[in-house]
Amino acid sequence: MSESAKLSFKGQEYEFPVITGTENESAIDIAKLRASSGLITLDPGYKNTGATTSAITFLDGEEGILRYRGYRIEDLAEKSTFLEVSYLLIYGELPTQAQYENFSKEITHHTLVHEDIKKILEGFPSNAHPMGVLSSLICSLTAFYPDSLNPVRNKEEVDMSIVRLIAKMPTFAAWAYKNEMGHPVNYPDNALDYCSNFLKMMFALPAEKYDVDPVVSAALDKLLILHADHEQNCSTSTVRIVGSSQASIYASISAGINALWGPLHGGANQSVIEMLEAIKADGGDAKKYLDKAKDKNDPFRLMGFGHRVYKNFDPRAKIIKKAADDVLEKLGVNDPVLDIAKELEQAALNDQYFIDRQLYPNVDFYSGIIYRALGIPTDMFTVMFALGRLPGWIAQWKEMRENGEPIGRPRQVYTGENERDYVSINKR
Ligand code: SDX
Repeated sequence: MSESAKLSFKGQEYEFPVITGTENESAIDIAKLRASSGLITLDPGYKNTGATTSAITFLDGEEGILRYRGYRIEDLAEKSTFLEVSYLLIYGELPTQAQYENFSKEITHHTLVHEDIKKILEGFPSNAHPMGVLSSLICSLTAFYPDSLNPVRNKEEVDMSIVRLIAKMPTFAAWAYKNEMGHPVNYPDNALDYCSNFLKMMFALPAEKYDVDPVVSAALDKLLILHADHEQNCSTSTVRIVGSSQASIYASISAGINALWGPLHGGANQSVIEMLEAIKADGGDAKKYLDKAKDKNDPFRLMGFGHRVYKNFDPRAKIIKKAADDVLEKLGVNDPVLDIAKELEQAALNDQYFIDRQLYPNVDFYSGIIYRALGIPTDMFTVMFALGRLPGWIAQWKEMRENGEPIGRPRQVYTGENERDYVSINKR
């Protein structure tokens, strides 16, 4: 028996269907709310608003559960690879050996980018933030692959665009870093696996032999898996709404990169390290910064803490925290900010302000410490997040397109001036 919800307003009663998903989450379907009652809903930040139904990722913020297509994040992080997880998210099932080999071969074959893109790269000053470079280079693919411009009329092009995005994003990311360093770019080495190829493009220098450390490559692969999707977060919602206008997948992903850049979202991993460094430089007094975070008159927030959905531990944070200990030990790295992070975490978890607001470490709290140990510079951390989130953005964009979802166009409640007559300037 289907459920419903009733609303009474100005003596009238309205009834709306309630839909329930496969994990027993329920939502009121208000598609007919305005037509029947003249009302709309208002929900800044969409804290209580579902934008869509989706079969890709399930997370339970209260229980700290995260699953990609039904598979637990803990299992995927431990046993899978980033390319296999990318296939799972985008096509809905874990690949067979043959499907995986074909997917991997296709991606390896498309890692090279058009030589003219180097001219675009060279136009950026060396102080350009890598996220701005990355979103620009991704959007430039619309110029080199014009058949991608209308994904509705040219569906075959979409699968090719998906391969190009996954293949070329590491090349662009590494080139953004080389631009910042003033170093010559490295071309992809198709003999290497996905993460090793990226690391070599990032760190190899002319006239120097560069061997990828398997510990670093394995740690990076795990981090990319942990970032691969997270249902309707800010940047994914951006990708979906840009794609809903039938904009190309390249334009939609470029928009997602820009949304991720913000310090309240993916930019937090860079802000966490900057915060930890500041605490260290200021004598390492974690409590002083905890008090600042609680002070309403102080704009300082404990970066890497809190989450719109997780009101329990972010399961990714737990895995990354353990990986941080393992990687730093294997690499023989002793990073004092890791000790400050752990001290801050313990203090916050025992502080009433954080307990009352259910503020726990999120995915960004420890990830920067691993990136740093892997030799990745701070302002590249959010680029790493984008590299990981790419298959999730692609999967969500593809689902929105295949479901034929309407163009996203929210309503508003107007609070400005009522009608008034124009007064010419000499009479004001
Ligand atoms: C990501 O959505 C996703 O899934 C995102 C993500 C993904 O994988 O895509 O998980 C990745 O973006 C993780 C979040 C990274 N951002 C940060 O670490 C930045 C610091 N965190 C906060 O800015 C905040 O917690 C947000 C932005 C993450 C969530 O903000 P909300 O849900 O809008 O919560 P809120 O701002 O309304 O805060 C509720 C209360 C407020 O206090 P009161 O007004 O009730 O007294 O908690 C306080 C806030 O002031 N609060 C914090 C805090 N986060 C919330 N106080 C101090 N430090 C913090 N970090």
